[in-house]
Amino acid sequence: MSENRRILVTSALPYANGSIHLGHLLEHIQTDIWTRFQRLRGNECYSVCADDAHGTPVMLKAQELGITPEEMVARTRAEHHQDLLDFHVEYDNYYVTHSPENKALCEEIYTRLDNAGYISKRTINQLYDPQKEMFLPDRFVKGTCPSCGAEDQNGDSCDVCGATYSPTEVKNPRSVVSGATPVLKESEHFFFDLPKFEDMLKGWIRSGALQEEMANKLQEWFTEGLQQWDISRDAPYFGFEIPGAPNKFFYVWVDAPVGYMASFKNFCDQNNLEFDDFWGSDSEAELYHFIGKDITYFHCLFWPAMLEGAGYRKPTGVNIHGFVTVNGAKMSKSRGTFIKGRTYLDHLNPEYLRYYFASKLGDSVTDIDLNFTDFAQKVNSDLVGKVVNIASRCASFITKRFDGKLSDNVLEPELIAEFQNAADTIADLFERRRYHQAIREIMTLADKANQFIDTNAPWVTIKDETKQQFTHDVCSLGINMFRLLVIYLKPVLPVLAEKAEGFLNDEFTWSSLETVLTGHAINKFKPMMQRVEMEKVDAMVDDSKENLEPAKPTVNPDSPLGKDPISETISFDDFAKVDLRIARIANAEHVEKADKLLRLELDLGGETKQVFAGIKSAYSPEALIGKHTVMVANLAPRKMRFGMSEGMVLAAGPGGDELYILEPHEGALPGMRVK
Ligand code: 2FM
Ligand code: ZN
Repeated sequence: MSENRRILVTSALPYANGSIHLGHLLEHIQTDIWTRFQRLRGNECYSVCADDAHGTPVMLKAQELGITPEEMVARTRAEHHQDLLDFHVEYDNYYVTHSPENKALCEEIYTRLDNAGYISKRTINQLYDPQKEMFLPDRFVKGTCPSCGAEDQNGDSCDVCGATYSPTEVKNPRSVVSGATPVLKESEHFFFDLPKFEDMLKGWIRSGALQEEMANKLQEWFTEGLQQWDISRDAPYFGFEIPGAPNKFFYVWVDAPVGYMASFKNFCDQNNLEFDDFWGSDSEAELYHFIGKDITYFHCLFWPAMLEGAGYRKPTGVNIHGFVTVNGAKMSKSRGTFIKGRTYLDHLNPEYLRYYFASKLGDSVTDIDLNFTDFAQKVNSDLVGKVVNIASRCASFITKRFDGKLSDNVLEPELIAEFQNAADTIADLFERRRYHQAIREIMTLADKANQFIDTNAPWVTIKDETKQQFTHDVCSLGINMFRLLVIYLKPVLPVLAEKAEGFLNDEFTWSSLETVLTGHAINKFKPMMQRVEMEKVDAMVDDSKENLEPAKPTVNPDSPLGKDPISETISFDDFAKVDLRIARIANAEHVEKADKLLRLELDLGGETKQVFAGIKSAYSPEALIGKHTVMVANLAPRKMRFGMSEGMVLAAGPGGDELYILEPHEGALPGMRVK
């Protein structure tokens, strides 16, 4: 890599028809840490993003809301941008794909591809909603699986038997949009000649642009054979019309990646930068896309082929990450683990999440699990207990006893040198997106700093008149170690770094690592980060449950079922896995500091299990003791702040605080299986 690196970075563009959630945030935080790191190092690094405005789902959602798609996109873009800023994710430009720059670039790229002979036309048959008068994308068709006969399956795959098929094969198909029975209708579509780029793509994929595991996986696509790519959609469609083809629109996945270019073009025009320096075929700048593994196909096949065919440069790297799971499972609206960015922000400090994701992110595509107990422990122990604690242990002595000034001496130069000498290793780890390893290195140093303070116990020596200089030196070294740690953490924790800069009268860059502050005035220490409180995590999860979209009433509108639709069907085998048992509530008591929980001891007729149940709003402990109820007896035990929860009792309610535990008929005895 050259000395003066010029770098452009993008994150995948969020769709303009939904909120930013924890899944998006993993990627935006990963990207933001990388760009902040590059800037800290002094590289010229730009980052752009945008809202992905086009396509059928956006169009239909706007119709549902009774507003124009433009209006909806403008609102959502503003909301997304603010959410990201509040997580301290800062792009140089956060634009939108429904923009004049994007239209112009899409038209130019298409025309170049067409002129070069890469576009062809062919008539295809597709399902059409005669009532809504529109062609239906696969996911807007439902019906009976042609393979196993399961009802109410998606238009392209069956959740029961796993079969995949074309929507034209579905039995009893219906349009999700209107309920009408779709008909087959012909239409002329435009295709991009992907197979022509096979050799180029094989080379590019092995050029170091991809993680090796992904490069290997992509090999399968070549084995299966590349196909012509359908790039047009018929009106009505919210998108850009194809030049010279009235009522034909670019498929959203054509104009979305071009949106990366358009967002940057818009930025260049306002900031006197040369667009071609970054996108021209002979560009020497580096270009990186951060994406999730689900959209690899678009970014690693279509996109480089489009760029090459239209005479632009290809990405230097496509950095692919896995999905977010919460407490070991897919994010779920009913469990309250489908957490929107805004809901998180209502309860918790965004830097907790930045740190937690950083401590887990590597350069592989494995999924990242957000386990709330681990989350709280890690933040509390690493950031509050180790890093910030170093400053709080040393600062007050400096302020009160040494005139707010650091010592002129460096007590243990080898120790501080050890902190400084870690710079290359840590830089290399950030550069390669091995954030979890970088964090481990930094925390090992934080442990050393704390050991140093423990060993020298300034709170003891301060009382000894003959040891004042020594105490001053110890505390000053402690503060210097804290400073170096926070410089390393600055890409991850920009707000903590800003507070530390204010405290130390300093501004941190990567070269600040070379200096040690001596004889330097510092300010009074103010607390820099609070501990994670588990109650706030619980409250966030509760709020996320309430975020459930209200369903259209399909039954008696007064029944809770109108507000809480029945979940998707599960197989009998799934149901049979749940071991439901009659339990006697042998004891119930309040849990200190928990707003919603009661601790229950459940007698299963030979075995007793402890369960923390969120039913405090509805029952006093005394009212429960002696009652029989139903519990899930084989739920994996969950470690909570208050102890282990070894199951779950069943209760019903319309949402909120109203709850009713289930009680069996007389005669049912503890331990009996519920069938
Ligand atoms: O999968 C998605 O959420 C898309 N909106 C990502 C688009 S990324 C790029 F190609 F624009
Ligand atoms: Zn099936």
